[in-house]
Amino acid sequence: MHRVAILQVLLFVTTCAAGDTNDIDFYKVLPPVDATPFPKSFKCFTCEHASDNYNCNRWAEDKWCPQNTKFCMTVHHFTSHGKSRSVTKRCAAREDCHAVGCRHHRATGHTECVSCCEGMICNVEVPTNHSNAVFAMRHTHSASAPPTRPCRILLLLLYVSVGLVLL
Ligand SMILES: *[C@@H]1O[C@H](CO)[C@@H](O)[C@H](O)[C@H]1NC(C)=O
Repeated sequence: MHRVAILQVLLFVTTCAAGDTNDIDFYKVLPPVDATPFPKSFKCFTCEHASDNYNCNRWAEDKWCPQNTKFCMTVHHFTSHGKSRSVTKRCAAREDCHAVGCRHHRATGHTECVSCCEGMICNVEVPTNHSNAVFAMRHTHSASAPPTRPCRILLLLLYVSVGLVLL
């Protein structure tokens, strides 16, 4: 009985020690190097003056963005009835994204909305008003709750069970 307990201890301590030093951070897991042109590379839908969102996305190349860009940008022109006139999507640098928001062009009666987002092929939709013509940056994981420590709980359970065996 004691030997089994000691073996259990060794097993748990080994797996827990390994687990603690290898806490996987899924936000930092990189895709295979040979599949991407460089680390942290991403793609955007890319089109020039498509007639609407469907025709942009349908024919858009989702191509790798150059290394000096970090975001995907969408520029949407539409009439006062909400009918799309032009959709342009591309990779963008942070400076380009200062232009997010909607502007009404009095002369044509058209509205231009610009949005930016961060992440793989994130520019699927087109902006249509002030609530979606925004700069949507990905939240960093540091803002989330601290990670739990399943290892500590396992160890505690182990001590209790070893104690019961030894009694
Ligand atoms: C903005 O547009 C989206 C999508 O067209 C719509 O669902 C949402 O209600 C609109 N928001 C406002 C404040 O008009």
